[in-house]
Amino acid sequence: MNSLPIGIFDSGVGGLTVLRAVRKRLPDESVIYLGDTARVPYGTKSRATIERYAVEDAAFLVDKGVKMIVVACNTASAMSRERLRQEFNVPLLSVLGPGARMAARVTRADRIGVIATEATIESGAYERAIGESCGERRVEIFSRACPLFVPIVEEGETDSEITRLIAEQYLAPLREQKIDTLLLGCTHYPLLKRVIGETIGAKVILVDSAEATAGETAALLEREGLINQTGEEASYQFYVTDAAKRFHRIAERILGEPLEHLEAVEVWGHDRLERD
Ligand code: DGL
Repeated sequence: MNSLPIGIFDSGVGGLTVLRAVRKRLPDESVIYLGDTARVPYGTKSRATIERYAVEDAAFLVDKGVKMIVVACNTASAMSRERLRQEFNVPLLSVLGPGARMAARVTRADRIGVIATEATIESGAYERAIGESCGERRVEIFSRACPLFVPIVEEGETDSEITRLIAEQYLAPLREQKIDTLLLGCTHYPLLKRVIGETIGAKVILVDSAEATAGETAALLEREGLINQTGEEASYQFYVTDAAKRFHRIAERILGEPLEHLEAVEVWGHDRLERD
């Protein structure tokens, strides 16, 4: 069981920021990554659709025999984490909880900004999760959807004039609210850390939900006695539902190395297959 891979899924390439952080934190763990590139973006879709996609993605990973699932998509986490917990009998961690807990821990002024996709912001899931982590403490949360950040990252425009203009437009209202902590509540945003940090101001603490998730993945594996101690070299397998070439190009840029194994697959119907 311990030598089985960790399953990570996202709507596309964004979850690779989580894989990158997990690989750094847990270099002996193998990973199977699924990017649902045929149906990306999730961030503009309805709860019912996102939930259905997330169940199919998770079922695909379970069929592959993973020992735990990391939901590396903030939108899927916000919309479907309760449903996934009900449906699947493997340890499951979603990016939402670790990011929220870390933001609650690091804020000093109790003024937290959250940036994410439209669907995540509309769900209010981060507000609730941060509120739960703060208990009796009263925190002010200022949320903002930043939909253009996703295509900008995918086009590799992580530090250009246009990115700075858009960042200014999105982040100026949060700066005016005098937030002291900014939660990057979308998988793509850690790749814009420099521009986001310079735009919001050096004093604001940036919470990278990918890094927070890697830390909690390690803690969960330890708690469950699932750390790989076989000494075998870790392997990384990548699956996508479409456009493997584009994924390959962007993934190499994010991970900084060629992919060992990349395969295009279909995931729809996997939830039903599992039950038949
Ligand atoms: N992975 C998504 C998230 O973290 C961003 C891309 C999308 O909208 O699917 O919210």
